Amino acid sequence: MKEKTEFIYTINYPREEKNLCLMEMRALFNIDLNEKTILSNVKIDPVFSPFIKSRLEILYSADNFEDILKAIISSEMESIDYKVEYIKEEDENISYEERLDKIKQVGLSILGTFSMKNPKNIFGVSNYKGKWYFGICVKGDTVWPDRIKKPYSYSNSLEVRLARTLISLAVEADRTKKLVDPCCGVGTVIIEALSMGLDVTGYEINRSIAKNANTNLGYYGYDKIVVNDDMHNIEEKFDSAILDIPYGLFSHITKDEQFGLIKKIRQISKRLIMVSFEDLEEMIIKSNFKILDSCILSKGSFQRYIYICS
Ligand SMILES: C[S@@+](CC[C@H](N)C(=O)[O-])C[C@H]1O[C@@H](n2cnc3c(N)ncnc32)[C@H](O)[C@@H]1O
Repeated sequence: MKEKTEFIYTINYPREEKNLCLMEMRALFNIDLNEKTILSNVKIDPVFSPFIKSRLEILYSADNFEDILKAIISSEMESIDYKVEYIKEEDENISYEERLDKIKQVGLSILGTFSMKNPKNIFGVSNYKGKWYFGICVKGDTVWPDRIKKPYSYSNSLEVRLARTLISLAVEADRTKKLVDPCCGVGTVIIEALSMGLDVTGYEINRSIAKNANTNLGYYGYDKIVVNDDMHNIEEKFDSAILDIPYGLFSHITKDEQFGLIKKIRQISKRLIMVSFEDLEEMIIKSNFKILDSCILSKGSFQRYIYICS
């Protein structure tokens, strides 16, 4: 019934973050997203993206629902404390009662114990483009919203969702990649990267901001790894860097100093994900980076430029 492992990803985004989500999907799946479901053989841990709501690892697919049930029954599938969910497509016209009925029929075909409240295993059933799919469902990280309000936060701190996307663009869902945030402020990127199990290092030149970053890290149970130093002193090499470039009133930084930061990153990192409040394309190119992709994120009256460079 199934030749190679395929996955169905359910995607969602707030309207103002559409460009960011589309850029992330280009980077992770190499596709131009035009609907909120992706059928792909690329395996991505949903934890890496704030836009991936769930991933269904397809075990069985069939042209009709009855054949899905037959496949589950004949495999004598067994599970402990499982739950079945109906993965509804964006425009799918199916009533709540019908979905419940499908869930019930699939649930009764699996042997073992059922648990609605604390499931150890989640299975999913879905009808995508007229075909039925059944498989193992994995959800994204639902805990990150708890980290929006940190002990220390400044008006120039990155939003947690944006920080998570930058990380996803930086490491391309690969946990072996070594990451640095050389101007890490109060550690938004560092905390999210640690929550994803990544090898990350952070530098912050301002003593009191570095101290506050480490207090934030300690608050979430992580080691206080932010180094209070100028990023120009970094000697280690990294696979990827995330630069939320210092700007304006907060950092009193000149154009030449900004240029110096990007040039320094060129020496220590293969890849750069950069965020800025103005178009810095020329500066990036002059620093010997190639811009692979970019997008503009509009929020209220201001815009943020996001660049993927290598
Ligand atoms: C835009 S803020 C970063 C905010 C951060 N992404 C957050 O969410 O908190 C830039 C930070 O870079 C720091 N910075 C400026 N120049 C630096 C340098 N040469 N080395 C390390 N940090 C630097 C500033 O003190 C400031 O905290």
